[in-house]
Amino acid sequence: MNTKDEVLMISKKNPLNGKINIPAAKNACLPIICASVLLDGKTVLRDVPKIVDIKELLAILKDIGANITHRKNGTLTIDSSGIKSGHVLNDSARKIRSSIFLLSPLLSRFGEVSLPLPGGCSIGKRPIDFHVEILKKMGAVVTVTDRRVGAASPCSPGSHSDATPTTIELPFASVGATINAITLAAKSLGKTTIKNCAKEPEIEDVADFLNKAGAKILGAGTDTIMVNGVDKLNGITYSPIKDRIVAGTYLIAGAMADGSVQTVGVPKTHLEPLLTLLEDLGCEVKPHNNIITIERTKPLTAKNISISTAPFPGFPTDLQAQTVALLSISSGTSTISENLFEARFKYVPELRKMGAKIELQENKAIITGVKKLTPTSVVAEDLRGGASLVLAALTTSGITIIRDIHHIDRGYYKIEEELNKLGTSIKRVKV
Ligand code: EPZ
Repeated sequence: MNTKDEVLMISKKNPLNGKINIPAAKNACLPIICASVLLDGKTVLRDVPKIVDIKELLAILKDIGANITHRKNGTLTIDSSGIKSGHVLNDSARKIRSSIFLLSPLLSRFGEVSLPLPGGCSIGKRPIDFHVEILKKMGAVVTVTDRRVGAASPCSPGSHSDATPTTIELPFASVGATINAITLAAKSLGKTTIKNCAKEPEIEDVADFLNKAGAKILGAGTDTIMVNGVDKLNGITYSPIKDRIVAGTYLIAGAMADGSVQTVGVPKTHLEPLLTLLEDLGCEVKPHNNIITIERTKPLTAKNISISTAPFPGFPTDLQAQTVALLSISSGTSTISENLFEARFKYVPELRKMGAKIELQENKAIITGVKKLTPTSVVAEDLRGGASLVLAALTTSGITIIRDIHHIDRGYYKIEEELNKLGTSIKRVKV
């Protein structure tokens, strides 16, 4: 079904109460699915959500010869033995950012790769220069046109990539570039050291997945990763980590729409900056192992709240939009600076339509809390901006219509069903 002609009709009947089991993380599953190309034999991943970005990536792998089954219970089986070349012609690679994670695994396996340039949320230019530099540093010849990126290893493809082991210093702690460096080094003979790495839990998860398949990767989760290339990686069954951004979104829903919400599957260590903010605003936050409970029993009060998004363990850029919605109904004035993407405030005009008082100054949003937001019709511009509109709609005493919800479906599987379990009344309507 084409979700481009669906809307969400949102009203909240009563305080939110209940528990949500969080699925595997989109930003762990996407690179792990790409890395599975390096493994001989079948890869089985557990609890993988059927979100649009994952469907698009699987369609690309199927198109180049992989055999894939994705069951209702989330179990995903990938047999990449049918992939015979590193040339991706399927244009849907242009729709998602994660297709760039195929660059290294296909180069490593076939000695050459060519892909359409990646797409993804329109939250900034999102160049791929860091990725290109990594491949060049490891001996590949890389060509980039306005539509495609291609690379070839210096020698013929063998059972391991012929990329030259070396030391790579990333200019920025880029998640995607760190992942492509790891997956190219995994089967490159000799030792590769990657410095100034991203430290997100999803990076650790990719390394953990590859190590369980036989790789020798040390230091993931720190700013320096050492990889000793191996000749062979074997297919495994693996359970990726749960989605800290989805969990954070639902915890913010609990804070905004009062009541008590519990997320299951994500440890507090993956969400420290958000949990601290929720407590600072007056919420009761009770983490216990992989269960986090939030209760809001008094009005949200923002006293000198000033947030800056940063690579992990800093405040996650992927929770910035949802946090601005939260601060929009917290009394007091707060600021949030977006330091990773240059166009990640596109949702602000839509929140203003709902009565939010937000001033934008370059990469900073200055929010003055209001008592209530008003229901109206708004448009989702990207994934996390769309999620922030859903959260805002939960606080109004009327019906809000959200259009272009296909953006939201990229990262949240049936968001209306999850939130309705907590006591909202959200309908997905075909228009
Ligand atoms: C990943 O994107 C995530 N996507 C993003 O999540 C997330 O916001 C981002 O990491 C930061 O945490 C996936 O994992 C699929 P980066 P990625 O490379 O890898 C610049 C979501 O909502 N840069 O860490 O593309 C880039 O423009 C999505 O789930 C270059 O300049 O992010 C940005 O300013 C949105 N050149 C900064 O680095 C490059 O070659 C951080 O980007 C690569 C990146």
